[in-house]
Amino acid sequence: LFESVELAPRDPILGLNEQYNADTRPGKVNLGVGVYYDDEGRIPLLQAVRKAEEARVEAHAARGYLPIEGIPGYNKGAQTLLLGENSPLVAAGRVLTAQALGGTGALKIGADFLKQILPGSKVAISNPSWENHRALFERAGFTVETYPYYDAATHGLNFDAMLAAFKAMPEETIVVLHACCHNPTGVDPSLEQWARIADVIKARNLVPFLDIAYQGFGEGLEQDAAVVRMFAERDMTMFISSSFSKSFSLYGERVGALTLITSSKEESGRVLSQLKRVIRTNYSNPPTHGGTVVSMVLNTPELFALWVDELAAMRERIRSMRAQLVEKLKAQGVKQNFDFVLQQRGMFSYSGLTSDQVDRLRDEHGVYAVASGRICVAALNSRNIDYVAQSIAKVLA
Ligand code: LMR
Repeated sequence: LFESVELAPRDPILGLNEQYNADTRPGKVNLGVGVYYDDEGRIPLLQAVRKAEEARVEAHAARGYLPIEGIPGYNKGAQTLLLGENSPLVAAGRVLTAQALGGTGALKIGADFLKQILPGSKVAISNPSWENHRALFERAGFTVETYPYYDAATHGLNFDAMLAAFKAMPEETIVVLHACCHNPTGVDPSLEQWARIADVIKARNLVPFLDIAYQGFGEGLEQDAAVVRMFAERDMTMFISSSFSKSFSLYGERVGALTLITSSKEESGRVLSQLKRVIRTNYSNPPTHGGTVVSMVLNTPELFALWVDELAAMRERIRSMRAQLVEKLKAQGVKQNFDFVLQQRGMFSYSGLTSDQVDRLRDEHGVYAVASGRICVAALNSRNIDYVAQSIAKVLA
């Protein structure tokens, strides 16, 4: 039965964890996967989460099946974070949300549903994009193409080429956009550029699929939702995948959401009924624990305020790591200018390291990064940053 099964390559991101875990060198540093570590190098358990968990244990709640689309308070909370307190679209019944198994799960149920309603469309992702975007949409049966995005020469955005590509796409092409903190580059369009992107996407009748996995890691929860709201204001029907994995430090709980904006309340009813079939035939209904905890935090004012502060502290620590990395690389005598790291947003920096340099970082120094040169700045801390800067300097020398 399995004789013809070929060995698949390691996952380009999660496969690094496997290699890292098997590495016995004491000074090893994992800058591969997008996970926030505190200054002690631990994945934090947020106080807001701890308090909600304690209340949940105290309540000795039964674990029945959730509704297929998940916990109502969770879905409502996710919508509010994306679209704001007083969204006219929400009031009009034009927004529906399903709790999903992380941001990846939200993308997958969105992709499966899209294949049902737009079987002939292609999917366009940024060049480069999160490694799993292409694989996920291809698995769902789509042909995946790329649109220009990153300009290696400027470490910035290739905005004109990106806009031209959108203008040339056939109608109903599904365009995957990173609504903030682009993964892997950390390079986001300005709000003015986003407005022009949104105009073209609407005028060309393209289908926006906004992926927002790092809300709160750019400028703040509200500011980072600006792009979602900008698209919503243009009255477009669209898909939004969002994740609380990073913002709640609840990676293993698989806390994501798929939000759809429809044309009417009546349409929402039909769309939700079909989306529920997609979910039911994939995993039936989502798990209870992580979703309940997130819902409690989002819907309890003092826990919410505590979470906002904790998220701000994570964001600030990443910023300070960016600044220190740039300084320490200079101090190591690195000739290349790394100031662009200060402009990038979110957890990642597209360092410009080549895949050979990434291999040497790992093999010679035990510092793990993604082959594309992406490093997770959120995994730097005051104990490992000198070693990382020295190691980068050595592979650049
Ligand atoms: C990442 O890009 O490292 C994260 O989104 C984790 C993942 O699932 O790849």
